[in-house]
Amino acid sequence: MFFISFFKDYSYKLNICMLKMAKKTGPMYYNGYYHLFYQYNPNGSVWGNIVWAHSVSKDLINWKELEYALYPSKPFDKFGCWSGSATVVPGKGPVILYTGVTDDKNTEVQCYAVPEDTSDPLLRKWIKPDTLNPIVIADREVNGSAFRDPTTAWWSNDRHWRMLVGSKRKHRGIAYLYKSKDFIKWTKAKHPIHSKSSTGMWECPDFFPVSLESKEGLDMNNVHGNNVKHVLKNSLDMTRFEYYTLGTYFPKKDKYVPDNTSQDGWGGLRYDYGNFYASKSFFDPSKNRRILWGWANESDSKEDDVNKGWAGIQAIPRTIWLDRSRRQLIQWPVEELNSLRGKEVKMNNQKLNKGDYVEVKGVTAAQVDVEATFTFLSLDKAETFDPSWVNAQDLCAQKGSKIEGGVGPFGFLTLASQDLQEFTPVFFKIFKAPNKHVVLMCSDATSSSIKNNLYKPSFAGFLDVDLSNRKIPLRSLIDHSVVESFGAGGKTNILSRVYPTLAIGNQAHLFVFNNGTEQINVQNLHAWSMKNADIQ
Ligand code: FRU
Repeated sequence: MFFISFFKDYSYKLNICMLKMAKKTGPMYYNGYYHLFYQYNPNGSVWGNIVWAHSVSKDLINWKELEYALYPSKPFDKFGCWSGSATVVPGKGPVILYTGVTDDKNTEVQCYAVPEDTSDPLLRKWIKPDTLNPIVIADREVNGSAFRDPTTAWWSNDRHWRMLVGSKRKHRGIAYLYKSKDFIKWTKAKHPIHSKSSTGMWECPDFFPVSLESKEGLDMNNVHGNNVKHVLKNSLDMTRFEYYTLGTYFPKKDKYVPDNTSQDGWGGLRYDYGNFYASKSFFDPSKNRRILWGWANESDSKEDDVNKGWAGIQAIPRTIWLDRSRRQLIQWPVEELNSLRGKEVKMNNQKLNKGDYVEVKGVTAAQVDVEATFTFLSLDKAETFDPSWVNAQDLCAQKGSKIEGGVGPFGFLTLASQDLQEFTPVFFKIFKAPNKHVVLMCSDATSSSIKNNLYKPSFAGFLDVDLSNRKIPLRSLIDHSVVESFGAGGKTNILSRVYPTLAIGNQAHLFVFNNGTEQINVQNLHAWSMKNADIQ
């Protein structure tokens, strides 16, 4: 497996935990190492007994598991060390902010921890100062059992640190803002930095600047003004999906205001339209980039998770920056992933008529990185878009890869058995609306496994892409039970978890296909068999 994986049967993804359950808590780069802290159950593959497990890497691909960084041990975190973030305090070193659960009523407080020895390059041991913790408790205005997941803190011109904590009041999702001069004594700002009705609990908020001028990432500290926008992301407990807005941060007013082009709420932009939750980003000063890292949660039954032996993996870390349109973000797998690329095969100018599917031969199709550009000559055959189709996932379920279309469906058939009893198609379909074309991108798990009772969603998103040159690129990272796809260079992204029973190991195949009447040309396909990451 190339996904970071502590599971036996993955190869290249960081599957956080064998017989255990995990999700992202706080990533950080410090003194030559990337640190991943993650929510982890040492006793089973379902949620519970949550500790902060800790792994380190020099390249974001190969990982070494260390001892737990935090585990329940104090009155303020006796019932769990829940999510939080790491902040590197200039001149002092890293500090962890996390949510401690104090009782069985889920009373949540914010705590901090520091390395026992900052000269240990791996930062193995963390201490939670007794006399100072917890550093924030819910006041009367705050719902104390919905008060968690502090963000990375940032330093502002007014010589204060600031951090956000996720919450809700009734059904209103809220990100409270706290300020501190010394990182220990925190005061709640007069009002939340932002909130939105009917979105429910905001878990794992993330708040960061993006440059208007370059793809380079920005550190949070002291960044505002005309050359940046800010991003606020929330993980919505009610849907288990995340959405983000782009907007303006007014530090003096302690306010964030989403742009009017960014929909604020359920229907807003998503980092990923598949299994991707509780993500965090961090600034990587070694390469001046911002990295986004998400947790691919499972959605099968607890019993299935126990049988599988895990309940989630980490997606491949993605570099993230602002699109030229300034209306959305772009994501792309970190360049270090290319170090796992082995044997390469190519396909050039492969024409696909309606009903054609052509195998990409010579790669390990269960563990492959494939990139291609699909071109077509005309959009005349595009079907008419019905404006009532607002939900991409419903549309994908209705117009799957097997339904003939005009322009598309075309794309990859991943993790396919030879006879196509099992396959996970990743594809585009283009529709004609009155003044524009609408592109649907799907990653459809409906036929991914002949096993019943699995969650097999038709994940999908719309893709805002310029079609004037009649081409759409697509990249998929396929790793046994993960298909992580990037449409049009990372504009719309979808991660699917799938559990084939026939299309496994060397019985798995990769095809390109077209099921629309417009002929499709597969230009410049490259596929690389992927080596295993070194996960210790
Ligand atoms: C996100 C989350 C966080 C919480 C943690 C508990 O999935 O629910 O809100 O801190 O997981 O493990």
